[in-house]
Amino acid sequence: MDVADWDRYWRFEEFRRSCDPLDFRRWKRDSQRELRALHPGEGVRLLDATAGMGDHTVNLAEEGFVVEACDASEVARELTTRAVREAKLDVPVFDARWETLGQSHRSCYDLIFNDALHWTWDRDVLAAQLRGFLDALRPGGALVFFFADAREPDEGAGLRILEWDWSQTTDSSGQPPTFERVAWTHERDGRHVELTIRSERGEAFLDEHHRFVDRRGDEETISELVMRRVYRWDWFALSRLMYDVGFVDVRSDVLHNRAKGYTFAMNRAFRPR
Ligand SMILES: C[S@@+](CC[C@H](N)C(=O)[O-])C[C@H]1O[C@@H](n2cnc3c(N)ncnc32)[C@H](O)[C@@H]1O
Repeated sequence: MDVADWDRYWRFEEFRRSCDPLDFRRWKRDSQRELRALHPGEGVRLLDATAGMGDHTVNLAEEGFVVEACDASEVARELTTRAVREAKLDVPVFDARWETLGQSHRSCYDLIFNDALHWTWDRDVLAAQLRGFLDALRPGGALVFFFADAREPDEGAGLRILEWDWSQTTDSSGQPPTFERVAWTHERDGRHVELTIRSERGEAFLDEHHRFVDRRGDEETISELVMRRVYRWDWFALSRLMYDVGFVDVRSDVLHNRAKGYTFAMNRAFRPR
C-alpha cells in the first residue's frame, strides 16, 4: 500500500472505531508489557515505526519507555498525535520513511517497534528498510517485529499461515480463488459507510480489495484500495535477510496474552555492539 492508500484506510478506520470502539490497547497491552520486562530501566529510547492510530505508541509510553513515533501517513500521524495528547503523554510524532531513518536518526534508539515489516513485498525494498532500522539503532539495540517466528523455522512456514488465513477468510470448504464479504457497516450523524472486501489469493499473498461506499443524504462516494497481505517473509526467509543486512542474534520469545488467552511470539533482531 502506498501512503495515499494508508491515509484513506486510516480515515475510514477512524470512522469505524468512532462507531464501534475496539479495546485495542487492552488487547495488545501484554506484548508491550513483556517487551518492557525484557528491556527494563530508565531512559530506554524506543521508536514506534508503525504508529497507525497510536495505540501501541500510548501503551509503550505508559509502560515506561521513552517513546517517539513515526509514520509515512499524514492521517496516521494526526491520529497518533491526538491519541498521545488525550493520554497526556509527551511523545514526539514525526514523518519518516523506514528506508531513510538511518540518515535522519542515526544510532538513536535502543528499540524500534514495527508490526508491519513483513507487509513489504519486494526483497530489495525490504533490505533497504532493514538497513534503515539497523542504522537508526544504537549498537546493541534491537528491532522488534512480528508475524512468523522461530517456532516454525522451515521454508514454507509462511504459506501455511496463508492457508490458515485463507480458510478463516472464506469460511468455506470449497476455497474459491476470490471471496467477497461485507466487513462492516456503520451509521453516525447521518453518514452511512459500508466496507466490502474482496479477497484474492495469490501464490504468497492475499490481496484484499477494499471498497468503501460512503453515503450522506443523496451523496455517495466510493473509495477503493488494495491491502496486500504478504506471506513470503517467514522465519526462514526473513531471518536470513536480516543476517545478510547485518543484524545479529535474530530470535523469538514466546509469551502469553492474558487478555485473549493465547500465546504469541515477539521477535527481536539486534545491531552488533
Ligand atoms: C499495519 S499499520 C500499523 C498499525 C498500528 N501499529 C496499529 O496497531 O494500529 C502500518 C503502518 O506503517 C506505515 N508504513 C508502512 N510502510 C512505511 C514506510 N516504509 N515508512 C514509514 N511508514 C510506513 C503505514 O503508513 C501504516 O500506518
